[in-house]
Amino acid sequence: MRPAARMEGLGLSVIRALNEGAPAGCVSLGLGEPSWELPREAREALAAWASSEGSCPYGPNAGTPELRAVFRDFLGATDAEFLVSAGSQGALFSLVHAWAGPGDQVLLPDPGFLAYPTLARLAGAEPVPYPLAPDFSLDPGLFRAVLDSAPRTRLAIVNHPANPTGAGASRGALDEVYAACRARGVVLVSDEVYRELYLDERPAGLADTGIRPGAVVLGSLSKAFAAPGLRLGWAHGDPEVLAPARLVHNAMVSCLSRPAQAAAAALIASAGSVFPRARSELAVRRETLRSAAREHLGWDPPAPAGGFYAWLALPPAGRADPLSFCLAVRDRGGVIVVPGSAFGTRGASYARVSWAGSPVDITEGVRRLSAFWRDQ
Ligand SMILES: Cc1ncc(COP(=O)(O)O)c(C=O)c1O
Repeated sequence: MRPAARMEGLGLSVIRALNEGAPAGCVSLGLGEPSWELPREAREALAAWASSEGSCPYGPNAGTPELRAVFRDFLGATDAEFLVSAGSQGALFSLVHAWAGPGDQVLLPDPGFLAYPTLARLAGAEPVPYPLAPDFSLDPGLFRAVLDSAPRTRLAIVNHPANPTGAGASRGALDEVYAACRARGVVLVSDEVYRELYLDERPAGLADTGIRPGAVVLGSLSKAFAAPGLRLGWAHGDPEVLAPARLVHNAMVSCLSRPAQAAAAALIASAGSVFPRARSELAVRRETLRSAAREHLGWDPPAPAGGFYAWLALPPAGRADPLSFCLAVRDRGGVIVVPGSAFGTRGASYARVSWAGSPVDITEGVRRLSAFWRDQ
């Protein structure tokens, strides 16, 4: 028996593989999920749902009426202008499948979130990586050069603040990239799932001045709402882009879990207080990272545009084979960091350090890194 050809090269993500094979007592600076408490608003909604009586029916594809009402307020949008999905990953999958197929090209950042090329390949399309600026922010000139050389591009993805680098995109860069895609009839997906996790200034968003034709923005409960396990995200933007993606999403999952939708409605309705709490959790972790990195690595990690990743240059000893090096760091050093090579060829001389974990783990994890980074 042989699975379909598009499965070729598809494996467990390096991040999951690193975590699953970890020896006991290992500290993980590998996973991209908040370690702070699920907000009380979600717990209360889940408890209320659990104690209500009656059946547990499927519900509408588009989400429960209560959830849609909360989204209309939160996004300032009509129902046609958002798709509530099974994680933002569900929206990504649906958009890529709706807009790209065999023979098409999908533009994605390198280094970038590792699901992007996987989803393009699963759709039968060719992933085309584009480089970023030296500080890993979005560079419209570099983006356009790759777009110009990829005539079969149907969809392009930008991610800011970015996984794995924490870098951002200026408003001007977003405008230029959007204009280039629009001129070519290319769908633009702006992945902004880390946007509300900022320390100083709120990063720019593609839809800040209103929905743009041909473009959608992704958001998620998984980061600033601290609820990745609810598996709920969304895409917000041009109804014409969303309409076919809705059909893919319906075919994939029919509709979302009812308890998750009840918790999501409570969380999103409380965004005004949930976000500041998340940012104070983030600020504590950022300070912990800074002091541990200065003390143990002699490194002052640059402030991210948002999110909870630091992008750490590998020591020379780790550059020839970054995966083996990170496996040795894990098995001999007892700490997990993800080799930048997992995120694209241009990430090969870095490691991604997630500081979403507990402050105790951040301090201990960075201390354990020092044996491999210091004096190399
Ligand atoms: C950039 C980016 N986009 C999308 C996702 C998917 O998140 P979720 O499906 O939990 O919303 C992630 C998860 O880590 C991510 O880092």
